[in-house]
Amino acid sequence: MNPVQSAHTLELVRRARRLRRSTGVRGMVRETRLSAEQFLYPLFVCGGTGARREVPSMPGVFQLSVDEAVRETEAARADGVPGVLLFGLPDNKDDIGSAAYDADAPVQSAVRAIKRSIPDTIVVTDVCLCEYTSHGHCGILVDHEVANDATVDQLVRAAVSHAAAGADIVAPSDMMDGRVGAIRRELDSRGFEQVAIMSYAAKYCSGFYGPFRDAADSAPKFGDRRTHQMDPANVEEALREVAQDIEEGADIVMVKPAMPYLDVVRRVKDAFNFPTAAYQVSGEYSMIKAAAARGWLDEPRIMMESLTAIARAGADIIITYYAREAARALKS
Ligand code: PBG
Repeated sequence: MNPVQSAHTLELVRRARRLRRSTGVRGMVRETRLSAEQFLYPLFVCGGTGARREVPSMPGVFQLSVDEAVRETEAARADGVPGVLLFGLPDNKDDIGSAAYDADAPVQSAVRAIKRSIPDTIVVTDVCLCEYTSHGHCGILVDHEVANDATVDQLVRAAVSHAAAGADIVAPSDMMDGRVGAIRRELDSRGFEQVAIMSYAAKYCSGFYGPFRDAADSAPKFGDRRTHQMDPANVEEALREVAQDIEEGADIVMVKPAMPYLDVVRRVKDAFNFPTAAYQVSGEYSMIKAAAARGWLDEPRIMMESLTAIARAGADIIITYYAREAARALKS
């Protein structure tokens, strides 16, 4: 008997495949619609002019001087990406990370330049000290440990200087306790009540940040970030962190990294119904890039699949180094 001619027809009422067969129907019943409007594009801004240095462990990602950051933002806007998330590489570092609140440092200068050239760009700034301290830790050290309250004072100064430069959203990524409330109060008292806070609320102590630390030159010179970043094993703690940040005034809460923590994204979204961001971090990006370079993965396909999965898990905003490429793919 010819095996392609079935001997009998199954009496099946439900055939799920009916809706999968044509692209048109598949599209109509699609549950998650990715849109470029959801993307934030991270940029690493350094001093000088005309600088565009590719990060070896992150192909396609560059350290950009302010003029180049403006050009990259213009190109991203043309691709359909609504906003950028800025990280800074200061010319000088010290013990207390004072370049983080220098009005003329790369981030503050880039905020002003981007707002001048394309004012409706959503400009978000990362607020942390690790890029600014000589020891690479996220705050002021006392006995080799990041001191919470003294660090919060520094973070507040950085956030205020970003707001003064014209940032729309400040994004504290340090994981100190109480920083969202402290930043909110100071922003309000200085007339920046319209500047929003996107808190890295559930930020895990993750190996997936490896390539970022090359890009931002922010690896700790000794030790690690275990005293303040979360244990990858915990999810109830993530819910407590998010609850506290919302209470303190966060407008958007973030889970980071994204793909290894999709369960956390979903739990946060379901528990709070709050604007939620997820960060597809450097290691997630570089893994795909490296495998694609060897021909082991189909990069355009994996890019869209991973971003769709992050949206499906409940993220409203997706921070991704693929923002431009994915926005272009969505147009075509
Ligand atoms: C801290 C910060 C980090 C990232 C974003 N903000 C690094 C860290 O905590 O060590 C990581 C982002 C990425 O890996 O892409 N300023």
